[in-house]
Amino acid sequence: MGPIQSFTFDPEQLRIEWSDGRVSELIALWLRDHCQMPASRNPANGQRLLNITDIAEDIAIAEVTLQDDRLLVEFSPDGHRSEFDLDWLRDNCYCLNQQADDRSEAGKILWQGQSFPQGLPRCRYDDFRENANARRDALRAVRDYGFVLLDEVDCQPGEILNVIAQFGYVRETNYGPLFDVRTSVDPSNLAFTNLGLGCHLDNPYRDPVPGLQLLHCLESSTSGGESILQDGFMAADLLRRENSQHFRLLCQNWINFRFRDARADLRSRVPFIEVNDLGEVVKVRFNNRSIDTLKLPPATLREFYPAYRHYAGILEREELQIVFKLRPGELMLFDNTRVLHARKAYSASGSRHLQGAYSDLDGLYSSLRLLEAAS
Ligand code: OGA
Ligand code: ZN
Repeated sequence: MGPIQSFTFDPEQLRIEWSDGRVSELIALWLRDHCQMPASRNPANGQRLLNITDIAEDIAIAEVTLQDDRLLVEFSPDGHRSEFDLDWLRDNCYCLNQQADDRSEAGKILWQGQSFPQGLPRCRYDDFRENANARRDALRAVRDYGFVLLDEVDCQPGEILNVIAQFGYVRETNYGPLFDVRTSVDPSNLAFTNLGLGCHLDNPYRDPVPGLQLLHCLESSTSGGESILQDGFMAADLLRRENSQHFRLLCQNWINFRFRDARADLRSRVPFIEVNDLGEVVKVRFNNRSIDTLKLPPATLREFYPAYRHYAGILEREELQIVFKLRPGELMLFDNTRVLHARKAYSASGSRHLQGAYSDLDGLYSSLRLLEAAS
């Protein structure tokens, strides 16, 4: 009898016992809503043609028969007939499958300073461009660890935009399609000085925040200026384990971030730690330079500060950080909703020039899915 042992039905639901003993109980409305027939879905693109309001509220199962590897379901009161492929039912049923979630901490590999004894996730840019498996593995590193380093990227200004074109789209901002990170006179942002920058995520004042950031090193002859990366999901997890009340306060109290210069006034209202409907971390934010005035209710503010200090303290723990010096031609690509970055102060002598740009995670995940399906 193929992959199923038996099935039973009544007007309300279809119950399938699979050969491995697992069970799916599928209600009539879900089955009708997920009908795969040409009347319900466009056969060419798979998009749903019907709306939930097109389905009778008293939809029920009238008859179910097994034919080869398909279950034929007849509904009442409309007499509609659907055919469900058994493999499709098994792969899609809500009893045995979870919702896809690329963002949740549940699907990630959390890391700290000592987690990469074999070296950091890296890929030669030529391989990234020319070899689909190498590109797939590099994009997987971004999905699973939140970052990858690309080596031997041409030290040409603007090359960073060609890198983005390999997997997604540039997220242009008020800084332009890309921005130069080097010491400048009268800087609009402390990034454009030789000061150290503490661990942060970029641009939490944008809504939505850019999901990906790239920094490409074109020149580096200063002393100092080392780069630091840190797993913000690991930091959030530590916060939760050390003090669940602190974790909760940072999820539940939304604050403002702000950036202002002569040409822009950008604001967002978001939490430091964002969780999904299951309570799993999906995004973190932190940037001491751009946290706007805190305007929480007085009693909340008193509780909030210790939680905020605790979180900021975790982000300063050196054992959680990886430290390395970006060399000319190296580029780091990281998830700007998860991985914090920082740099150490650097000397006034010598020159240091990075170019930065943003992109979004959905485009990267889409490219990764296509590469995974093809391999
Ligand atoms: C930035 C930044 C880091 C560096 O521009 O967002 O954090 O290494 N720069 O200069
Ligand atoms: Zn930054």
